Amino acid sequence: MKTEILSMLRETDGYISGQQICEQFQVSRTAVWKVMEQLKAEGYQIEAVRNRGYHLEKSPDVLGEAEIKSLLNTSWAGCDVLYFPETDSTNTRAKRLGDEGAVHGTLVAADRQTGGKGRRGRRWESPAGSSIYMSILLRPDIPPDQAPMLTLVMAQSTAEAIRIRTGEEALIKWPNDIVINGKKVCGILTEMSTEIQWINHVVIGVGINVNTEYFPEELTETATSIYLESGGKQQRSGLIAEVLKQFERYYAMFLETGNLSAMQEEYNRLLVNRNREVKVLEPGNEYNGYAIGINETGELLIRTEDGQIREVYAGEVSVRGIYGYV
Ligand code: BTN
Repeated sequence: MKTEILSMLRETDGYISGQQICEQFQVSRTAVWKVMEQLKAEGYQIEAVRNRGYHLEKSPDVLGEAEIKSLLNTSWAGCDVLYFPETDSTNTRAKRLGDEGAVHGTLVAADRQTGGKGRRGRRWESPAGSSIYMSILLRPDIPPDQAPMLTLVMAQSTAEAIRIRTGEEALIKWPNDIVINGKKVCGILTEMSTEIQWINHVVIGVGINVNTEYFPEELTETATSIYLESGGKQQRSGLIAEVLKQFERYYAMFLETGNLSAMQEEYNRLLVNRNREVKVLEPGNEYNGYAIGINETGELLIRTEDGQIREVYAGEVSVRGIYGYV
């Protein structure tokens, strides 16, 4: 009921009477009052005026199940939301839930991670109160070799969501980092549980530096936050909701074709590496070339110095700019 009341308050410009809420949910005035008190304790500024009712004056940047759910505008992404003030890693949680039978679209979000995981076994610093740590559990009916494309689907969705919510020019550093002004604001980690022929589940984890004010010295050259680039603080729950909305849209495009052809053009338009000279670092091999864009299956096409076109498969490869991170 908390989620629904929060949604009602959000959708009402002026005041909503206690009576109206009671009738809607068939509950007592005391029950409504208790929910309002809970919301106030969480930081929502709710004005209560005699004979007029309740009015939501300000939402804090808090995360929570009701907060996220009340902003969702999706049909399946986030159908179940599990929120933790602190957890080891939202990916690990989501994988565990997947093993226990959680449904397609389950979202796990946290305010802080004690064991945040990055790609290639790296740590993902996950302090409280300023960032987004979220993982979505999927049960796609696709062959396991198509699943890596889902990471690019999420990168496209997240870049688009950041652009919509903040107006910042969020671009994609292939395959799945999001950058603003050449610095990383978001990383994506996809993990899979598969049999030879089919997928049990896929977990896509997204870490976004939203309102972060400081980074450790060694990261300041390459990492940034939406706040540091735009000067404005963002409501994290609203951004989570937008990421899921965009993800549903691009995921549908992906399922229709089984590849990225329907969104290839949009992805390439946001590709920061496009038409840039890059260094490709494969295990035991390193070469330079020009990044042209992705193909239908998400490989990065590189024109090498001898004019050949090479297809770079994400896996263990890293692509850097010649003069820096992008
Ligand atoms: C990277 O760029 O190396 C990927 C970083 C992915 C971080 C996110 S935060 C939410 C989810 N839970 C994790 O432990 N990792 C991902």
